[in-house]
Amino acid sequence: MKILILFSTRDGQTREIAASLATELKELAFDADIVNLHRADNIDWSAYDGVVIGASIRYGHFHAALDSFVKKHQHSLAQRPGAFYSVNLVARKPEKRTPQTNSYTRKFLLGSTWAPDLCAVFAGALRYPRYSWYDRMMIRLIMKMTGGETDTRKEVVYTDWQQVAHFAREIAQLVRKQA
Ligand SMILES: Cc1cc2nc3c(=O)[nH]c(=O)nc-3n(C[C@H](O)[C@H](O)[C@H](O)COP(=O)(O)O)c2cc1C
Repeated sequence: MKILILFSTRDGQTREIAASLATELKELAFDADIVNLHRADNIDWSAYDGVVIGASIRYGHFHAALDSFVKKHQHSLAQRPGAFYSVNLVARKPEKRTPQTNSYTRKFLLGSTWAPDLCAVFAGALRYPRYSWYDRMMIRLIMKMTGGETDTRKEVVYTDWQQVAHFAREIAQLVRKQA
């Protein structure tokens, strides 16, 4: 069985998580294709038994391409088991790491024409040295206000890889059940 994993990333963490999900799924005897959602023009949906979409948050929003993609492919998405994951830094706090308690994710699910069967929220990465001066200052300010890391020399990955592995197992179970 084959799963399509689409990702929308700015700095790469959502792609890293997609790659980790693919590795876990392969260990569970699934094939997985990882595709950049921003460049996913011609998808052969008939090749896939399930779909996963992951997207990150920047300044309070997912990339607009996420909504466009979901609208454009809503029929194909509705026809197969689906899972969504969001990636952001608010989720570094465990109490903000569920679809109900993570406001970006909750809002997306409420407004979306797609109703994924599974949803996870993952903490992303904080990579100060890679940001532009403006972004570095803005993120530092947000971190200061929310009690996070403020040392701009640091790169911190908050993603809980055990949580990612658990999500992969849930996806495998879902796709097998609906096959
Ligand atoms: C410029 C910028 C703005 C961000 N805005 C938010 C935000 O509003 N809320 C949040 O929780 N995380 C925010 N983040 C954190 C990102 O969601 C986090 O770094 C994530 O790992 C990015 O994933 P990506 O590398 O796949 O794009 C921001 C990060 C950057 C660089």
